[in-house]
Amino acid sequence: MCGIVGYVGPRPPLQVLIDGLHRLEYRGYDSAGVALVDGSRLSVVKRAGRIADLEEAVAAAEPPEGRVGVGHTRWATHGAPTTLNAHPHTDCTGTVAVVHNGIVENWAELKSELIRRGHRFISDTDTEVIAHLVEEGSDLSLVEAVAEAMKAAEGALALAVVRTDQPGLIVGARRGSPLVVGLGESETFLASDIPAFLSHTRRVVVIEDDRVIEIRDGGVRIFDLDGVEQPLVEKVIEWDLAAAERGGYPTFMLKEIHEQPQAIADTLRGRTADGGVIALRELELPEQILRMVDKVFVVACGTSYHAAMMAKYAIERWTRLPTEIDIASEFRYRDPVLDGRSLVIGISQSGETIDTLAAVRYAKAQRSTVIGVSNVVDSALARESDAVLYTRAGPEIGVAATKTFTTQLVAMQLLGLYLAQVRGTMDPGTIGLLVAELQALPDKVGKVLQTEPQMEDMARRFAQVRDFFFLGRSGDFPVAMEGALKLKEIAYVRAEGYAAGEMKHGPIALVEPGVVVVGVATDSHVRQKTLSNMEEMKARGGTIVMVVEEGTEDEVSGLADEVVVIPQSPDLLCTVTAVVPLQLLAYHIATQRGLDVDKPRNLAKTVTVE
Ligand code: G6P
Repeated sequence: MCGIVGYVGPRPPLQVLIDGLHRLEYRGYDSAGVALVDGSRLSVVKRAGRIADLEEAVAAAEPPEGRVGVGHTRWATHGAPTTLNAHPHTDCTGTVAVVHNGIVENWAELKSELIRRGHRFISDTDTEVIAHLVEEGSDLSLVEAVAEAMKAAEGALALAVVRTDQPGLIVGARRGSPLVVGLGESETFLASDIPAFLSHTRRVVVIEDDRVIEIRDGGVRIFDLDGVEQPLVEKVIEWDLAAAERGGYPTFMLKEIHEQPQAIADTLRGRTADGGVIALRELELPEQILRMVDKVFVVACGTSYHAAMMAKYAIERWTRLPTEIDIASEFRYRDPVLDGRSLVIGISQSGETIDTLAAVRYAKAQRSTVIGVSNVVDSALARESDAVLYTRAGPEIGVAATKTFTTQLVAMQLLGLYLAQVRGTMDPGTIGLLVAELQALPDKVGKVLQTEPQMEDMARRFAQVRDFFFLGRSGDFPVAMEGALKLKEIAYVRAEGYAAGEMKHGPIALVEPGVVVVGVATDSHVRQKTLSNMEEMKARGGTIVMVVEEGTEDEVSGLADEVVVIPQSPDLLCTVTAVVPLQLLAYHIATQRGLDVDKPRNLAKTVTVE
């Protein structure tokens, strides 16, 4: 996720762009840049770091103003967050500048082909191929050249492009990533999101997929990729700026819960190939090493540890490799038995959690192979690991992890299937079926989000309940743990996540009328066992909430006080869908209790102390 802005009009564009970038900083903040066109001159200034760093660089460079400019704030998905990799990117001639939000899936093929044709690349980004593709169309109008580039590039793209031979013009394009136009008096704005220009105009045109647009100071024209002009639908925004930054949601956490279908699609993008093969090209670890591994350890903290729990089941089931999981702060002090044939996977959203880093360093000292799974490109975890797999959730502002958790689950499922593929422990047909099911997850999560009114209503009734249990077995166990953690973190309610079969060994003594017991029963091979355990909770007077898959709701009609139905998915993949109603439940209980869900007390998003 990145933020792009563009401006054509009578004001000095630089300040409009910088203000817009500040408003989009929630979309990414690891590097930033601007390109300004003044007559036939193109000036590009960019910097690693925050937008404040870019402002300093711009002040030092004193670029000419002109009437046209584009800007970018980056959340790296491809290439470290360095000044060289910051956008805008330019072509060989220095006459084209491009800012991009999204992922060019076929960048590697395009780059080799462009190099073969004599283009010179200077960054590690996927975006730079777009600048060179547009350069290839130098004899076309800019809008035609960008349309051709869109046809060649696969994946998600929101673009803003300038070219010195058309100095009064920005060309935008969109497929998959958001893009909106703001219509002012003799000035026009372009951005990833409305807050970037809401202080200037409330008149907005939302751009659809596979459209290329011409932006001038007099307005906008929209074309499809074949150059056929499209109608322009204008609407007026009623929100205030603060609400607009949260996409109209009351909190960042709720916005991030609703971003999960997109975040999961981004995490899957380009990582599966035709015929149901997993293609983790960026892992850059010789397959020979993965074939040699005889034991796996997965270490993490907090919510990431719950992704590790799911990973254990997935790796053991799909690869038959013995897999241990550890809370990172426990790992290195228990003297685990590691050697050169051990694979250690560290999962950390931030990639900066000190306990996870210490665990990974310990593993490296034992000569084990380390894979980092992180949401932040070039984080400490990414740099210190032998190989890295990025979740591509975009920045998460709410302290409680939501979209970063579901993307961790998906990343670990990809990694588990990849190990099975490389080691030949699953037949390609079964991997293909699971790949197709992974691809279906964004839509299914979208469907689960429709349970929100039900979860909100439940939250109203449970807002004053003091004790919750969340129970599950197998893949449903980490979901139960995460459901309980969400409720503790943001609603300050005592909630225990427990293995459903273990309740009878003690905690069942706490179950009595007034206690809510949430059972997650989606994993088909243990569902009946979980239902029996839930009967035991009901017999002690607990209020029973069941999360089950479509087609199994009849099995719980006599048991449950509340039934939440989610779409069917294969075992373990349904962790991704099953956790969503529990996020919503915690969220709405917290808001019923009047709490600040984005900044819960006593917590920090990133914990860099032991
Ligand atoms: C903090 C956050 C949690 C997070 C944990 C691990 O406690 O509040 O939401 O799960 O750190 O963070 P990491 O960045 O390593 O995934």
